[in-house]
Amino acid sequence: MREDIQTIKNEALAQIMEVTDPSELETLRIAYLGRNGKLNEVMRGIKDLEPEERREMGQTMNEVKGAIEQELIYRKESLKNNTTSTFDATVPGIKPQIGHLHLVTQAIEEITDVFKQIGFTRVRYPEVEWDWYAFGALNMEEGHPARDDWETFFMDTPTHKENGEMVLTPHTSSGQTREMKRLQTPPVRMINIAKCYRRQIDSRHLTMFHQFEGLVVDKGISIVHLKGTLDYFARNFFGPNRKTRIRPYHFQFTEPSFEVDITCGYCLGKGCKLCKEGWVELGGAGMVHPIVLKNGGIDPTKYSGFAFGWGVERTFTMKSELSIPDIRMTYSSDLRFLRQF
Ligand code: PHE
Repeated sequence: MREDIQTIKNEALAQIMEVTDPSELETLRIAYLGRNGKLNEVMRGIKDLEPEERREMGQTMNEVKGAIEQELIYRKESLKNNTTSTFDATVPGIKPQIGHLHLVTQAIEEITDVFKQIGFTRVRYPEVEWDWYAFGALNMEEGHPARDDWETFFMDTPTHKENGEMVLTPHTSSGQTREMKRLQTPPVRMINIAKCYRRQIDSRHLTMFHQFEGLVVDKGISIVHLKGTLDYFARNFFGPNRKTRIRPYHFQFTEPSFEVDITCGYCLGKGCKLCKEGWVELGGAGMVHPIVLKNGGIDPTKYSGFAFGWGVERTFTMKSELSIPDIRMTYSSDLRFLRQF
């Protein structure tokens, strides 16, 4: 019986679609839905069914009736509209909307390109990392107070004998010893871009964000190379009118350590409400600590290196032409915002 109903439905819909004269629609309506129509004819057999089946069949019948009625109305409308219009193949089409890469992906690609031009290789290291790579190898042994700055998420998983607890990597510096071990001998010219996680969120911080970490190790590498690399990046990423400066700072894994600033994108260094004194902070940098080189399997008496690690989202929002007051907007799903990039 169900099959009969489906056959009737298919037949009816096919016939309705073929109709070119609106008066034929009424004939079809009577033939299928009328008192003596095809559906009612099948319906007569319903009284012989079990009550459970009867209910089900009644429901199917109603759905089919609804579908046929709908198609009749739809066809009637489309016949009305079609009487005057003809298809004109020369009318320009309506272009489908095309999406684009997310702004953070665009920023990652742009950053990668700038560093590629001066010989860096993009690598990726794990988001879920061992304590040893995130802290221990970076001269922050267990219980060291400096670790507090990284507000780390610890995984609820068994501890590794040598590498300790499992964490969501709080910075891309965890890739430093991994890269040194992978290459074994310098030169190292790494740009590690990955997701990082910290227990913090406000207008300048996100719980999940991206960092890009540069690491260069070779013979005779000095602060001059670090400053030259930073300036090259700033000129190419932010434009020729922005300047960088380095300020003394402290990290356990670099010696000396710096914080890198860039002239504010709004006032270009004059000082404004947003930056106060003309400079905004980009992120950390420094000369790789001998202990870190050793942990990466490299002899610190022969080689030296520099490293820097900055947030992708933060760096991106500092572009001069942009006005993004809250870093959380970079993960907005508002199309009005996203279409601008
Ligand atoms: N890993 C540091 C941070 O997350 C930044 C940094 C990288 C500092 C490399 C020095 C050298 O803040």
